[in-house]
Amino acid sequence: MSRSSRVSIITMVDSPPPLAPFCYRNRCENGAFGTLQGKPTAQVGGTQLASRAVAKPTFRTPKGTRDILPGEADRQRALVNAFGEAARRAGYGHVMTPMFEDLGVFKRLGESTDVVTKEMYDFVAKDGNHYALRPELTASVVRAFVQHRPLIPWKVWYEGPQFRYERPQAGRYRQFSQVGVEALGTDDPGIDAEVIALAWNFYQTLGLSEVTLHLNSLGDRTDRPAYIEALTNHFQENFDSLSEQSQFTLQVNPLRVLDSKREPDQSVIDAAPVMVDFLNGETAEHFAGVRRVLDQLEIPYEISPRLVRGLDYYLRTTFEFVSTALPGAQNAIGGGGRYDALAADLGGPDTPGIGFALGVDRILLACDEEGVFEAAPSLVDVFIIDVTGGDQAALLGAQLQTAGIATDRAYDSRSMRAQFKVADKSGAPLAVVVGEDELAAGTIQLRTLQGEEREQISVTRTTLIEEVKKRLT
Ligand code: HAM
Repeated sequence: MSRSSRVSIITMVDSPPPLAPFCYRNRCENGAFGTLQGKPTAQVGGTQLASRAVAKPTFRTPKGTRDILPGEADRQRALVNAFGEAARRAGYGHVMTPMFEDLGVFKRLGESTDVVTKEMYDFVAKDGNHYALRPELTASVVRAFVQHRPLIPWKVWYEGPQFRYERPQAGRYRQFSQVGVEALGTDDPGIDAEVIALAWNFYQTLGLSEVTLHLNSLGDRTDRPAYIEALTNHFQENFDSLSEQSQFTLQVNPLRVLDSKREPDQSVIDAAPVMVDFLNGETAEHFAGVRRVLDQLEIPYEISPRLVRGLDYYLRTTFEFVSTALPGAQNAIGGGGRYDALAADLGGPDTPGIGFALGVDRILLACDEEGVFEAAPSLVDVFIIDVTGGDQAALLGAQLQTAGIATDRAYDSRSMRAQFKVADKSGAPLAVVVGEDELAAGTIQLRTLQGEEREQISVTRTTLIEEVKKRLT
């Protein structure tokens, strides 16, 4: 082979031509994950730059949505897989429901909630039915439960995109992803603690440490009326101090006023009575049971008596996970609670239920802030450099992939120098090199591409996979 056999490969190649801004392994220099923005971008493995001629694309992602490109999308997939694995270990089966449902399914989220009144992507389809893109998955899962009547307890996990017509900003999108669980058919406080622990432990697995669990009980349908009355009286007494929006909300659902983030409402909310003081014997006992198991599991929480959450179906246990690493407005990285009346509201049998959903996009932002759960440095383990025409790359690639080793290669019979450049950019720790000399001798060069100490050895075709595996462990 013509290329010098010295080991210091990276120092021998030129750096890529300056192209600013550009995306390398799909992380755009302008910070805009997922939006190509008409800028040149590297392909996975960085094999070549897309045409620079396209300066202004005709179409862009709709407002509030993002393209999540390879690299970041692989990171998201890894998160979802880790969540699915944790849920499976806790006895939850995977459930998939349609991305759109009859609008009526989501109306049950509450006539006074923004999600229903302002944020629904609804449409009348060609069949004349009124549908909505799902803004969350709990209602869909409960609809599926009512439709299929599975054995209880029914424990399921899910993942996927949700759609809310919100005002977009960092951490708040019109299409975003959630992972979550729902458990229907039991109100044992043990399951409340189980789902909370599942979410808590998942954050820990990712390496997130700046997470606070806020916990509350919203009472049930027997003790809540007395609380609502006390709350209504309090807000009526302070009516003129409330924002216009909260004055309106008060007429529809006084509890929702507690969820207001508007400045004028805050002092009135701070002075409002709290639900925990109104819990009857049974709900108080249930809440104590949940806390006892959480204490036993050593899961730290803060009792937040004004936590009501943004959806109307909650009864008894409610909770939210807040990342203190994220800025205030969008720092909720997950939340959930009991919805013991939802199955009956959707026409099914009286069935208690509890669950949570975690915001995948926000969790990844929190991971960025904390410097944990980073994108894998490379999607491939081995980069094949073939300067004999490309057939060897095809053959060796197939062999390595069959042995479970992720590989990539260059195309278009490029020069060795060009191929090494791409190999370096791919981040692969190993290169397999075939030149004319190797082809004649029936050997292959194996080179390490990362680290201080670079190794370069000649191996036979029969020992290649073993030698590669040895260096990857
Ligand atoms: P949620 O609080 O509406 O609850 O959403 C859960 C999480 O989804 C939030 O904590 C946040 O991380 C993320 N999220 C919500 N909206 C957006 C957005 N526009 N952009 C980015 N992330 C967002 C539910 O959805 C309930 N279904 C949870 C549940 C399950 N309750 C019982 N079971």
